[in-house]
Amino acid sequence: MVGALARAVAGSRRPEDQRSEKPHHRLVRLLTHDPDIGDRRTEGQHRCRDGDGVHTGSGHASSVVPSVIYGSPIAGLWSVFSTALPKVKSGRASPQGTRHHHPGSSILFLSPHAEPVVRATAPVVAEHAVAITSRFYPAMLEAHPDLRNLFNMGNQASGEQRQALASAVVAYAVHLLDPAAPSFQPVMQRIAHKHVSLGIRPEQYTIVGHHLMAAVAEVLGDAVTPEVAQAWDEVYWLFAAQLIAEEARLYTVAGVDPSHPWRRYVVVERVEEATDTISLVFRPEDGGLVPRHLPGQYVSVVVTLPDGLRQPRQYTVSTGPRENTLQITVRRVRGVGGAPDGAVSTFLHEQIVVGDVLELGAPSGDLVLADGDDPLLLISAGVGITPVAAILDDLATRGTTRPVTVAHADRSAASHALFGATADAISALGSAEVHTWYERVDATGDRRGARTGLMDLSALQIPEAADVFMCGPLPFMRDVRASLVRSGVPSHRIRYEVFGPDMFAGQTLSA
Ligand SMILES: Cc1cc2nc3c(=O)[nH]c(=O)nc-3n(C[C@H](O)[C@H](O)[C@H](O)COP(=O)(O)OP(=O)(O)OC[C@H]3O[C@@H](n4cnc5c(N)ncnc54)[C@H](O)[C@@H]3O)c2cc1C
Ligand code: HEM
Repeated sequence: MVGALARAVAGSRRPEDQRSEKPHHRLVRLLTHDPDIGDRRTEGQHRCRDGDGVHTGSGHASSVVPSVIYGSPIAGLWSVFSTALPKVKSGRASPQGTRHHHPGSSILFLSPHAEPVVRATAPVVAEHAVAITSRFYPAMLEAHPDLRNLFNMGNQASGEQRQALASAVVAYAVHLLDPAAPSFQPVMQRIAHKHVSLGIRPEQYTIVGHHLMAAVAEVLGDAVTPEVAQAWDEVYWLFAAQLIAEEARLYTVAGVDPSHPWRRYVVVERVEEATDTISLVFRPEDGGLVPRHLPGQYVSVVVTLPDGLRQPRQYTVSTGPRENTLQITVRRVRGVGGAPDGAVSTFLHEQIVVGDVLELGAPSGDLVLADGDDPLLLISAGVGITPVAAILDDLATRGTTRPVTVAHADRSAASHALFGATADAISALGSAEVHTWYERVDATGDRRGARTGLMDLSALQIPEAADVFMCGPLPFMRDVRASLVRSGVPSHRIRYEVFGPDMFAGQTLSA
């Protein structure tokens, strides 16, 4: 390990990035789910959460993927880091530590003392990042068993969250080191919103920092000199400081006291929406108003499972803002290949009835519809229809004049959730164009004018200036995005949401 670190230090002195593509460009493309890269990095990695497949889109004629995926975006990241970082051009800090600030980059800087150490050791830390966080989580959860009620134990079993944290910290270090790196703001926003939905508090950063640094020391051993430890501690606390500040701002905007982040809501309605899909309508138990939320945002819902474990999960609010009620739409995740059924979605389906009380966090999420006049293209597959339903409802309520096109893919009419609600909103909009694809078109599908097969946008006239919003399985979105770009939609206009741990999903794909 010491040898690897020494080599990394030597490597960090290479002056030139000889590759045509800058490391941070490649890195950001990886981190931002650029489907061109995604094909290479996530092939075969999507595991089935519910076994309820939907089309992956054009070009994958025979592929059916789960409607809720949690494929990680970051496979392959480590190999990029291990070759890229030593080649990152130095020059952000002068010998005196002065810098040229790039708009949108961090306003916080590594100290001149820590910077060369981080630069030299980042590739080695990146290489071992998953090993580090693999030690970190079990140790932290053993020392603080109460945190098991906060972290998604399904993600812990799958390793998803380990990769998310590890890659976030290393990507943050790259961002600190590279003056030309694109803004880290979207990543920061995605994490801060997720944390706020879960009621993460500033003092918990001390616990995470302590166990993370202990895991670094354990994995890298003697290589972690006091100098190296101090430099990475600095990276962690710069990141933490920015997250804490942003989370404080979001708590204030939401009117939520982070020491009491959960609010009790009564289930006032339960609707069997579609195959394996229910909607639950909540009303605050205290009789107050529902907090203001934007279409596209989600809430964390906490349940106490039969074994006593409390578990939160995020569910998109599936209508536009309502003063008195808040609706979520949940697809039941069925275990496949010996994996257990989804814990929370199954519990909600099997146990929750009208009159039950559940705790919900503050509505959060940075992927929301921005105001504007440009045409809108709303694309979804499977239960990915939830944010689209919320956006359509909101547009109809506000009587938008924006031209709207809606495209949805599903297995069949029976599995098409929120069909009625979206159809109502679409007819209220008057001129919206609708396109539907089902794998199997029965009489109902026929009446709805559904096409048979995978979504194929090539026949649609898509305005170049369209703002695109999409939600669905990652392979589906990758195919759709590729076809949109081919037909001339600029990639920065394409925004999307992934229903899983994915720290970069809120970002556009323009990098
Ligand atoms: C921003 C956001 C918005 C979302 N919006 C919606 C929405 O509107 N509607 C919706 O239905 N969902 C939505 N989701 C997804 C939702 O949050 C949950 O992830 C989903 O309901 C599954 O949770 P679960 O507890 O049922 O499954 P989990 O228990 O978390 O299991 C997930 C998967 O892991 C597997 N697994 C669990 N434990 C193990 C193990 N030990 N070994 C192997 N495999 C294992 C399970 O088989 C399953 O496939 C959203 C997610 C996010 C992040
Ligand atoms: C600098 C410190 C931290 C970083 C870099 C960080 C990073 C992340 C990232 C990248 C995600 C995934 C976001 C997504 O894409 O959905 C996440 C989620 C989460 N974080 Fe943090 N985090 C930090 C501190 C904390 C702290 C202090 C806590 C509280 C103990 C915490 C608890 C959580 C939880 C519970 C989740 C959701 C995980 C899941 O459900 O599996 N994080 N964090």
